[in-house]
Parts: sequence; C-alpha cells; structure tokens
Amino acid sequence: MSTKPWWQTGVVYQIYPRSFADSDGDGTGDLRGVISRLDYLNDGTPRSLGVDAIWLSPFFPSPGFDFGYDVSDYCGIDPLFGTMKDFDTLVAEAHRRGIRIILDLVLNHTSHLHPWFAESRSAQENPKRDWYIWQDPGRFGAAPNNWQSVFGGKAWKWDARTRQYYFHMFLEQQPDLNWRNPNARKAVMDVFRFWLDRGVDGFRLDVVNAYFKDSMLRNNPPALGIRGYERQRHIYDKDQPELLGAYREIRGVLDSYGERMAVGEIMGGMAEAARYSSDGLLPLAFNFEFTGQRWSPQAFLKSIMAFEQALAGKGWPCYVLSNHDIVRHASRYGGRWLEARAKVAAAMLLTLRGTPFLYHGEEIGMREGKIARADIQDPPGKRYWPFYMGRDGCRTPIPWNAFPGAGFTTGDPWLPLNPDFRKVNVAAQRDDPDSVLSFYRKLIWLRKKMPVLQAGDFIPIPVKSGRALVYLRETKSQVALVALNFFESALDLAFREPLPAGSWRLRLSTHPVEGAQPPLGYGIRLRPHEAVIWEKR
Ligand code: GLC
Repeated sequence: MSTKPWWQTGVVYQIYPRSFADSDGDGTGDLRGVISRLDYLNDGTPRSLGVDAIWLSPFFPSPGFDFGYDVSDYCGIDPLFGTMKDFDTLVAEAHRRGIRIILDLVLNHTSHLHPWFAESRSAQENPKRDWYIWQDPGRFGAAPNNWQSVFGGKAWKWDARTRQYYFHMFLEQQPDLNWRNPNARKAVMDVFRFWLDRGVDGFRLDVVNAYFKDSMLRNNPPALGIRGYERQRHIYDKDQPELLGAYREIRGVLDSYGERMAVGEIMGGMAEAARYSSDGLLPLAFNFEFTGQRWSPQAFLKSIMAFEQALAGKGWPCYVLSNHDIVRHASRYGGRWLEARAKVAAAMLLTLRGTPFLYHGEEIGMREGKIARADIQDPPGKRYWPFYMGRDGCRTPIPWNAFPGAGFTTGDPWLPLNPDFRKVNVAAQRDDPDSVLSFYRKLIWLRKKMPVLQAGDFIPIPVKSGRALVYLRETKSQVALVALNFFESALDLAFREPLPAGSWRLRLSTHPVEGAQPPLGYGIRLRPHEAVIWEKR
C-alpha cells in the first residue's frame, strides 16, 4: 500500500456549483443538487466515476459580480446555493462515500460588500482601514502607480468620500486585502479553521501568489502584450517574498488538523507553481501549462519534464486540462476527432505522476458552450467582446440527460444549455462501453487498482515519432507502460532503448482488446488514436 497522502494519490473533480445540478428549479445549481449526484461521482463501485475528492467553486454569500469569486461572508452559504445545514449534509454524505471536500477560498480580495470593507472604507481612521490597500493619490490626483486590473482598466479605484484610492487586482467590486496587516491576516487564518472544524478536507486557494504586493507600490515595468494587464511585467503586484511566510502559516494550520490539503492557483508559470509547492510550503500548486498546450505529444512531454525538473523531488506535481476559467479542452483539441482525443487526453492526465484535477463535464467530452452576445454574463466577456468572449462557454450547465432542462434544472438555466446536449449527456454515455464517460470511469478505477499509477516514477520512453507519447510508471514492485497515439493514423513505434524484459498484460485500451498489440522489446504498434496501459508481469 502507498503511504502517500490522499491528495497525492487521489483524483480531484472540480464542481462549479452554479452549473452542476439544480434541486429547486431556479435555474442555478445548488448544494442539494450536488448531494443528489454524489452517487454518480463515487458510490464505491466502478459503475460510478470513482473520484476521491470534489473541489467546489465558491458558494459563499456574494453579490455575484464575479460569480462568487467576490465573497461577502467567508463563513456562510449564499441562499442561492442552500443553507449551512445543506452544507453539513453534503460533507456527511460525501464522506460516507469516501469523497473528500475541498473548498475554494478567495482570500486575495473580498467583495466590496464584505463588512470588513464596509468598515474599512467608512473613514481613514477606521481600525479596519489598513485591512485593505489604501493609498493617497499621486500627483494631480492620479492613481498611485501604473498597476492594471486583470479584468481591464486601472487597478485603483478612487473613493471620493475618504479621498484615497483602494487597490483591486480584479473588479472594483473585489478590493484586495492587505495581508501585511496582522489582524486581517488573523481573520483570514480563522476562516481556514472555521471550515476545518466543520470537517472540510482541503482548499483551493484563489490567486494565491497575489496575496502580497510590493510594500513601496513601485510601478511595474512594461512588457509586450495586447490588453493593459498583459503590457506589464508583474514583478511588484505578485510573487512577493512575504508569501513564503504566509504559506508556512497556512501549512501549519492544515497540518494541525491531520491530512488536510491546499492547492494554490498560481498566476504565472510552472516555475512559480514548483517553487510554492516545494519544501513544505503549499501541498500543491496548479501548473497551468497544459491549458495552453497545443495537441502535440512532444509539447506535453517537454512541459511534464520541465515541471518534474523544477520540482526536483521537493514537491508533488498536479495537472489540469480544463477549469472554469478556460475553454474546455474537448473543444481546444477536438475538431473531427473530439471524442478520440478526449480519451487520449484523459489517459494522459490520469496516468502521469501527479494529482489529476478534472473539471466537471470533461468526463463526457463536454464541448465549450455557445453564448450569444446578449447572454454573456462574465464581466471580462462583456468588456472585451468580440475580442474575448469571457468564461461563460466553459460554465454552461452539465447535461445529465436529453430531456428539456437536460436533467440540470426544471426551470430556466442561468446559462444556455449546450446546443448538443441531447446527444452529449451523462445518460447517453452511462451504459455505452465505448463512451468518453466509460473510459474515464475505467481509468479512474484502474488507478485505484494499480498503485504504480499513483506513486510510480515517471520514465519517458523516447520514440522516433512525433505522434505519440510513451512512458513507464515504475515502483519496486510494479511497472506500467502507457502509450498514447495522438493522431488518426496507426503507428509502428520504434523505441530508442529496449523495454525492461518480461511479458505484458493489457490493463486498458481505448480500442477493442482483440486488436491490441503487446509491446515488443523495441517497439509497439498502436491503432489510430489508441491509448493503452500495459502492466509488466
Ligand atoms: C481566479 C478564479 C477566477 C476569478 C479570479 C478572481 O482566477 O479562478 O474565476 O475570476 O480568480 O477571483
């Protein structure tokens, strides 16, 4: 048995609660909706998906300017999603099925309607003034420096009443907390404890490397880019040295509750992800390389090796292909071979060394939704249309079946259902052994049966073709070979070095078992878009 903690061996499934399942017909998903689908996620048998944890995007009270990523009470439940009793039921029901609960804590900023901010903005002398980042105007009333909001425009908002600017990295309705203020910091650490005391197993930490800004508020130097935010090098508004102390403090709180986790959402590259999840800092940090990766096995391999190298054995990798902020990968990679590629991508994500994070809907090869301009909800989409459509397309409701409302709601869904929901839905795929859903299910359950897929070393096998990705996963007692044909023609792959001697047993293929060709010492034959997992006897 593996001695690794659950957050290294398990599979995490992200739920965007607004879009998962609506129990009361108001068109918006809710906590009781999630409870009603827990058996789908894991009922202890391979009939279910088998995920080990769910990460729920925010359901805390919020005016909803950024759809819950603007929190006005960290310790409550927005009535849109249910009650605290529903939440406690969710935790109990999930735990009963062996599913852990990960909450999304948005602690870089609060909502402008959070009582902390209401106090802070009430007067310069207010004791909570320093809980946020307030600054006198520059010359001629100008903003204190050149910092830009990620969502567009200046990151400073003038408060006419108290005659100072406040800083908001995102919307002006999302003022940034001042993590340097000891009382604010203590209040934030209490939020962790509040939920840990309620039985939560971990946290996803929103924009975790933006918690601190340069204490002198220096101007960022320019960079090449299109939108304002991209036209700067962000050396002063994120990645400050004080982060490390904050991460140690968070880790300390987590560890004091046993095997609890946190995964950081990092703004930036894999180097930062590796740094912040090494040496006992954050347990995990997202490496978003895959979300911008083209459909190329070499490109994936390069980024895997770079991450492994950056972590240097001091941290644990984690991988993600889709989430609520980016175009769904089925659509990114899809085209004519959408389902075949969704399976190859799944086989890769679920057999790499590292914790896989799935985004709800990817297990049915869900496509990006189509949103008419009038239906756009996401603030950056409204602002930048038609150059950027915003993030609504990856947030459309999960289609559970082909009935009106797709089994998601009996009312009007808050975002339109995908036009293809009658074809692409859970019910249509559940009993089809060749569906994307069945393949995810088989992969996840195989991971549980093959500890080598959870804990083994990752050893790439160089191949003389740029069309496939092949690697071993290896522990002292088990060896698995994963071979992924990324393209639509059959491949005879030659290895540069021989495989370890032995015979191989087929554990999983995207294709019928009959035609599977066991690996030979120096090569393997793969069918078009075939993903296979062999185990050495
Ligand atoms: C993170 C979230 C995103 C949100 C932003 C501001 O990037 O994933 O959805 O808009 O933070 O909180």
